[in-house]
Amino acid sequence: MGKTLGEPRVVLVAGASRGIGATTARALAAAGHPVGLLARDADALDAQVAAITAAGGRALALPADVGDPEQVDAALHRMRAELGAPAALIWSVAPRFVHQKLHELDDAEIGQGVDIDLVAALRLLRRVLPDMMRAHDGRIVLLSSRAASHGLRGAPLYVVSKAGLEGLVRSLTVDYAAYGITANALRLGFVDGERVQYRAAGDVSDLKTRAATRSLVQPDEVADAIRWLLTAPSTTGAVIDVDGGIGLAVR
Ligand SMILES: NC(=O)c1ccc[n+]([C@@H]2O[C@H](COP(=O)([O-])OP(=O)(O)OC[C@H]3O[C@@H](n4cnc5c(N)ncnc54)[C@H](OP(=O)(O)O)[C@@H]3O)[C@@H](O)[C@H]2O)c1
Repeated sequence: MGKTLGEPRVVLVAGASRGIGATTARALAAAGHPVGLLARDADALDAQVAAITAAGGRALALPADVGDPEQVDAALHRMRAELGAPAALIWSVAPRFVHQKLHELDDAEIGQGVDIDLVAALRLLRRVLPDMMRAHDGRIVLLSSRAASHGLRGAPLYVVSKAGLEGLVRSLTVDYAAYGITANALRLGFVDGERVQYRAAGDVSDLKTRAATRSLVQPDEVADAIRWLLTAPSTTGAVIDVDGGIGLAVR
C-alpha cells in the first residue's frame, strides 16, 4: 500500500513527443521511473524511447490522439500490459496555438478548443484514477499557465482550459487524497522551446524582460519540479508558479 519516498512509479506522460513533456519523460526515466509516452507523432515518440533506452531507462511509445477515447483506451491497455498500470500522470498536452477572440470563434471551434486542452484531461484521468485507487497511490501533475490567473489576449479557450485544470487539482485532492493520490498544477511562464519561439516569432527578448529573472524558464526546471512532486506525499491541491517571477518584475 503506497510507495516510500523516491520509489519508482510507472508514469504516463501525455504530450511526450516534444517540448516539456519529452524533457520530463527523459528526466523521470533517468530517475528510474518507467515511462509511457503518449502523443500523436509515432516517429517522434520512437525517437524519445530510443534515447531513453540508450541511456538505460525503461520507456514505451503510446501513439494516440487524446481527443479520441478509443485510441486512449488502446494506449492504456498496452501500457498496463507492457509497462504496468499508471501510478502517475503528467498532463503536458498542448494543441497548436490559435489567436482568436471569443466572438471570432464558431460553436464547433469552441468545443474543439476545450476538448483537447481540458476535457481530454478529464477523460484520461477518469480512466487512470481507478488504477491509482486500487494501488492506494498516485501522483497527478497538470501543466497550467500564467494565462489561467492573468488572461492572455486572443486565447479565451486556452485561458478557461488552464483555469479549469487548476480547479481540477483542488477537486481531485478533495475526492482522492484519502487514496494516497496527490494532484498539483504547475503554473508556467515562458518556457524555452519551439512553442515560445513560435509565439515570439523567433525574438524572445521581450518575453525575457517580463520575468524578474530576465530569462526564459528552462524545460529541465519544469521536469525537476515534476520529479520532486512525485516524491511529495503532502503537497496536493497546489498551484505552483514556475515562471521566473513574471508580474513581479518592474519593466
Ligand atoms: N511552453 C511554454 O512556454 C508554456 C507556458 C505555459 C504553459 N505551457 C503548458 O505546458 C505544456 C507543454 O507545453 P510545450 O511547450 O511542451 O508544448 P509543445 O512543445 O507544443 O508540446 C505539446 C505536446 O502535446 C502533444 N499533443 C498535442 N495535441 C495532442 C493530441 N490531440 N493528442 C495527443 N497529444 C497531443 C504534442 O504531440 P503530438 O503533436 O505528437 O500529438 C506534444 O507532445 C502544455 O500544457 C502547455 O500549455 C507551456
